Amino acid sequence: MPHALITGANRGIGLEHTRQLLDRGWTITAGVRNPEAATDLKALDPGDGRLRIEAYDATDLNAAQVLKDKVSGPLDILFANAGIMGPSDQQFGSAASEGFMDTLRTNALAPLALAEAFADQVAESQLKVIALQSSRMGSIADNDSGGRYAYRASKAALNAVGKSLSVDLKDKGINVLILHPGWVRTDMGGPNGNLTVTECVEGQLDLIARANPAMNGRFFHVSGQDLPW
Ligand SMILES: NC(=O)c1ccc[n+]([C@@H]2O[C@H](COP(=O)([O-])OP(=O)(O)OC[C@H]3O[C@@H](n4cnc5c(N)ncnc54)[C@H](OP(=O)(O)O)[C@@H]3O)[C@@H](O)[C@H]2O)c1
Repeated sequence: MPHALITGANRGIGLEHTRQLLDRGWTITAGVRNPEAATDLKALDPGDGRLRIEAYDATDLNAAQVLKDKVSGPLDILFANAGIMGPSDQQFGSAASEGFMDTLRTNALAPLALAEAFADQVAESQLKVIALQSSRMGSIADNDSGGRYAYRASKAALNAVGKSLSVDLKDKGINVLILHPGWVRTDMGGPNGNLTVTECVEGQLDLIARANPAMNGRFFHVSGQDLPW
């Protein structure tokens, strides 16, 4: 039975990944900041042991290693999905703040720590995918509107992390996919996004299902198109 570890699985895109993969018979380890409060996630529990909810706070650099001790066996998908937009004010003039560092830690450093903790278990699996939930806002080439310093820099850093992972883990047979989910109607994306979580996750799972060495280390829109770095 395939197994995925998904962070930020209590709401938004991560919750929907959990729902769709459980429906397909997968086992899911859901890494969430506050398991007690994860009511929507707990409501998905099929009651057969396939949903395992573990505490995971991306701001804690040790969290990935602590989680590793709780997850055994092969891991088909490591999905570093948890992320934050960062400080409410990221405009020029007030962007250099401690919140910038928190955003980097959550969006870029935490996924790297997860990859370091779980690469061997991913390598033991059938599918062997590390998926990084990035954003088109991390594209330097695509930035024609400025602002959002912390978020943009954190996702650009995540993209750089993903590219290095794709080189360093290639010999283990792991494919690293760097994913932009589209503009999705979630708490982060807001009500005007052009995709539902269902549409987004169907697209992302299609991409993941056809992961192969030619896709390793590439930055994909949910539509399957390559995005510029
Ligand atoms: N929605 C979009 O249009 C869009 C576009 C591009 C990229 N993305 C990316 O997609 C991912 C998911 O976004 P979303 O739209 O689903 O956002 P969301 O609805 O705001 O959900 C964010 C998730 O990340 C978790 N999270 C945040 N900080 C965490 C931490 N320190 N430790 C553990 N979990 C943490 C949240 O948990 P809590 O409930 O505990 O806060 C929540 O589960 C993010 O990486 C985001 O940058 C989204």
